[in-house]
Amino acid sequence: MSTTSIDSLQHEERRFPPSEEFAANAVASSGLYDEARADRLAFWAKQSRELLHWHKDFTQTLDWSNAPFAKWFADGELNVAYNCLDRHVLAGNGDRIAILWEGEPGDSRSISYAELTAEVKRAANLLTKLGIGKGDRVAIYLPMIPEAVVAMLAVARIGAVHSVIFGGFSAESIRSRVDDASAKLVITADGGWRKGKVSALKPAVDAALAKEGTHTVENVLVVKRGENDVDWVEGRDLWWHEAIADVDAEHEAEAFEAEHPLFILYTSGTTGKPKGILHTSGGYLTQTAFTHKNVFDLHPETDVYWCSADVGWITGHSYVVYGPLANGATQVLYEGTPDLPHPGRWWEIIQKYGVSIFYTAPTAIRSFMKLGREIPDAFDLTSLRVLGSVGEPINPEAWVWYREVIGGGKTPIVDTWWQTETGAIMVSALPGVTIAKPGSAQVALPGISIDVLDEAGNAVPVGGGGLLVVSEPWPSMLRGIWGDPERFKETYWEKFGTALFEKPKYFAGDGARLDEDGDIWLLGRVDDVMNVSGHRLSTAEIESALVSHPIVAESAVVGAADETTGQAVVAFVILRSDQSEMQTADEASALLRTHVSDQIGAIARPRQIFIVAELPKTRSGKIMRRLLQDVAEGRAIGDTTTLADTSVMQIISGQLGSTNG
Ligand code: WT7
Repeated sequence: MSTTSIDSLQHEERRFPPSEEFAANAVASSGLYDEARADRLAFWAKQSRELLHWHKDFTQTLDWSNAPFAKWFADGELNVAYNCLDRHVLAGNGDRIAILWEGEPGDSRSISYAELTAEVKRAANLLTKLGIGKGDRVAIYLPMIPEAVVAMLAVARIGAVHSVIFGGFSAESIRSRVDDASAKLVITADGGWRKGKVSALKPAVDAALAKEGTHTVENVLVVKRGENDVDWVEGRDLWWHEAIADVDAEHEAEAFEAEHPLFILYTSGTTGKPKGILHTSGGYLTQTAFTHKNVFDLHPETDVYWCSADVGWITGHSYVVYGPLANGATQVLYEGTPDLPHPGRWWEIIQKYGVSIFYTAPTAIRSFMKLGREIPDAFDLTSLRVLGSVGEPINPEAWVWYREVIGGGKTPIVDTWWQTETGAIMVSALPGVTIAKPGSAQVALPGISIDVLDEAGNAVPVGGGGLLVVSEPWPSMLRGIWGDPERFKETYWEKFGTALFEKPKYFAGDGARLDEDGDIWLLGRVDDVMNVSGHRLSTAEIESALVSHPIVAESAVVGAADETTGQAVVAFVILRSDQSEMQTADEASALLRTHVSDQIGAIARPRQIFIVAELPKTRSGKIMRRLLQDVAEGRAIGDTTTLADTSVMQIISGQLGSTNG
């Protein structure tokens, strides 16, 4: 973070040594580092066998001969859902609670491993009955209700591939994802509870499928949650509760190859088209289970775990569904917004269920900080023993507040760096082992090789900034971009390339700095990707949404620093010449904010849109976003000498001073 206030420097210098409570974990965890250092592949093979049930054991741990296309545990066979469900029941833990679900309006459900297993078996039979088989793609567009977890696991159980689409995405976004993956089935709900009211979901699916062109969807399976009225397409639409009532309750999990695809999850890249990140089975489950157990020091018999992420993001896939369930954890699942019906709702939930491990994003922590500590102080949070952070760099002030106010000044905080592409946590302290350093994600996990390199591929000296790379393949790594192997190679592997005799390294897209202790500090993205509230957005995607509106001639989007959300979307728009007269800048800006929201989803709606007469461009026509970022962040404008027309920035800032100032 660039916030170098005196306050932040003071916090940065603070060190938090591990407490006594974690002594046992410290010994075990240091052993993991030693083992991994001695033989990385043997380490992962051992972890995989210890953490998972393999229907057929593997003989080869890693095949990297066709780099960058990795195969982990390739000749082994397993069933991911069996690992998350049946085996816990068979081990005598069927009565253990898997999900403590809390609906926004205050309704709740508690679901044991035996019950969840039974529900997934029936859902698996239902999917089969609907003609879904091994390898078929199923799109899931659901609120945070238990059926979201059931649907994902049922798809996995029959060897189909899920593509979960975050409930905040628009019809347009649904359709492009459904088309890209050729999904045969969509699982949705009438609506879900959000911000104190029912927010409809099915209409977006209906609109997506009504768009022109042919699509591959045969059925839409609808969970009843919102009780809102919905339109119905006879022959296509089915109510989940009706359809599941008449299927068989027994279902035997078949084993699939370790590299069988598990899911596709779309994320924003540097172009206008989201990429379908592909994850497979054995390696993904190994690393999500390993990290969930060790990063959070999980004791499944006694811990109550809560990750606040939505299943529509990778955090929800890895740390709501697969990691925790593979480990037999008991977890809270919450449907709604953090502040309803009162601003202490989250803390009330922690108190109600005795949550001991809590994992959330810095944006949430910063919003609570703003509201003041009186709100969390009114609840008993003493059950908490490990806190996690993910999604963006956490500024030291927020880190210290999180530990003092939420963690009662005693809990370790694990700041976990990873990505949709990495599938699981890669860089994090281990509670009880690492001396915590607020603001730093700290060190690579056992079995993970991270380097910070300069543009030429050389290691940066201590204190220096560079680019974060993963230097060795890892079990939960993405296996590709759905339907686009070239983009996969280009985006991640060519920068620190496949030169002769050199092993390809994964380029993460993040800047990082190494300090004198070897700790890693993340410095944010170095590409045209923004991070808003821990969610990834692409400048190009928002720009193309803007220019798709008839009043827009040109647009440029930047991520500007934002006190709460980390970054915020700020757009600069040139209107078509026949339009500038038609409406005021404020009207145009309001219209376009809504348009972006309709095109992509509410999370992409710009915080501000500036209507301008010019955009700063180099002689070759490239927009200099850096200068726009200066404007958006209210800074003095940087070096403009490479602009084709050096007066442009004066025009823009002069104009903004008068119209938007
Ligand atoms: C990008 C990945 C991984 C789950 C949520 C986001 C940023 C993530 C941290 C962290 C600093 C972080 C990076 C990364 N990021 N965690 N602990 N410290 N930055 O997943 O949408 O794939 O975004 O989020 O910039 O590249 P994602």
